[in-house]
Amino acid sequence: MKKKNVEIMGLLLTGVICLVIIINKNDFEDDVNPRSEEIKEILRDISTFPRSETPQVPQSHCDPDLSVYNLTGFTTLPGHIKDFLLYRHCRTFPLLLDVPIKCGGPNKSADVFLLLVIKSSPENYDRREVLRKTWAKERLYKGVWMRRVFITGTTSSGFDQKRLNRLLKLENNEHQDILQWDFNDSFFNLTLKQILFLEWMERKCPHARFLLNGDDDIFANTFNMIEYLQGQEDNDGSKHLFTGHIIQNVGPIRHPASKYYVPEQVQESNAYPPYCGGGGFLLSGFTARTIYNMSHSIPVLPIDDVYMGMCLEKAGLMPTSHFGVRTAGLYVPAETVDKFDPCYYREVILVHRFLPHMIYVMWDEIQNPNLICGKSNPSSNANR
Ligand SMILES: *[C@@H]1O[C@H](CO)[C@@H](O)[C@H](O)[C@H]1NC(C)=O
Ligand SMILES: *[C@@H]1O[C@H](CO)[C@@H](O)[C@H](O)[C@H]1NC(C)=O
Ligand SMILES: *[C@@H]1O[C@H](CO)[C@@H](O)[C@H](O)[C@H]1NC(C)=O
Ligand SMILES: *[C@@H]1O[C@H](CO)[C@@H](O)[C@H](O)[C@H]1NC(C)=O
Ligand SMILES: *[C@@H]1O[C@H](CO)[C@@H](O)[C@H](O)[C@H]1NC(C)=O
Repeated sequence: MKKKNVEIMGLLLTGVICLVIIINKNDFEDDVNPRSEEIKEILRDISTFPRSETPQVPQSHCDPDLSVYNLTGFTTLPGHIKDFLLYRHCRTFPLLLDVPIKCGGPNKSADVFLLLVIKSSPENYDRREVLRKTWAKERLYKGVWMRRVFITGTTSSGFDQKRLNRLLKLENNEHQDILQWDFNDSFFNLTLKQILFLEWMERKCPHARFLLNGDDDIFANTFNMIEYLQGQEDNDGSKHLFTGHIIQNVGPIRHPASKYYVPEQVQESNAYPPYCGGGGFLLSGFTARTIYNMSHSIPVLPIDDVYMGMCLEKAGLMPTSHFGVRTAGLYVPAETVDKFDPCYYREVILVHRFLPHMIYVMWDEIQNPNLICGKSNPSSNANR
């Protein structure tokens, strides 16, 4: 009798403690997220977790290709490369977040003059925020529309992944600018990300005239970009254009310690076709559709910018070089000169590796009507 009472008390206590934890948790959610609609949604998510398990988004099904174990030396390869080879053939993943009417629907998508397609990882919230209010702000300029999408996968696992997915959902509710697929957003999956975007474009935004494809840590002078694209002689996006910082006469890096290591098991040939550095390049809608078409018959290579070059080569098209695309850095004449002098950035169209706060400041500075730049400025003869 006594023992039973103790047991009941124990159960009751556990119940009370659980309640307290749940209530506190809800309070905490309230603090971070003042919008009641979203709170309801989050609570619904929480209440549908199986209690004993880590929360998981629905997993996509694509079986590993076990025949890669037969490749010579497979077992000696680094883990991420083994992983790449096992899942190289997987090209369809569920879309977790969409912006179906980003371009006003497929038939109206020709109204989008420049679609900014920015590769971002879920955790890069600060970068996305600053881009939204600076160079990637959706707007009408010189009579044409600029639109923006961030392309992402998922990172981390368990509760952390759930939290990051929730972040992206909140952002998408507010800004309608995120495409997210359910795949591991790793460096070696960047090509997959590009292919998934091109597939989305074919369905939802097939007639966008031009695209900027780039990283979320670039500074892009989108004013100059529009002017440059409008200056294209008889190309309204229906002809070939692919331009950026061109890289030629290089091949796979064979040092296992490199981030870009591509062993023979992944690509046998020692040469890459000419391509544009993936930090940022401009292309026409025509060329984007052509690349997508070619991608169906080219096995995925983990380096996404090289892969674009392979698709171009197969289509018989060449990338070109644009002087204003400085993904390899900007030439600054002397150490005494401020490398963040806005005069350099007013003339270029794209520069790689900017911290969010620097993007914010530079965006303001290049628009300053009182900015005075000398003739000796080396970038003033930029090709625009
Ligand atoms: C590996 O190679 C062996 C011998 O050629 C073959 O019998 C086997 O089916 C292969 N394994 C896979 C998973 O393809
Ligand atoms: C995603 O890929 C990276 C790099 O290959 C790996 O370290 C990480 O464990 C993977 N994450 C998941 C959840 O599989
Ligand atoms: C878009 O255009 C196609 C072909 O002209 C037409 O069949 C379709 O109904 C249109 N869709 C919308 C939403 O207007
Ligand atoms: C790419 O993503 C898929 C799906 O999440 C995953 O199975 C695979 O391991 C990833 N590949 C790499 C190289 O991270
Ligand atoms: C893709 O290219 C093939 C030729 O390789 C062509 O027959 C087909 O029409 C193209 N498809 C699209 C959607 O452009």
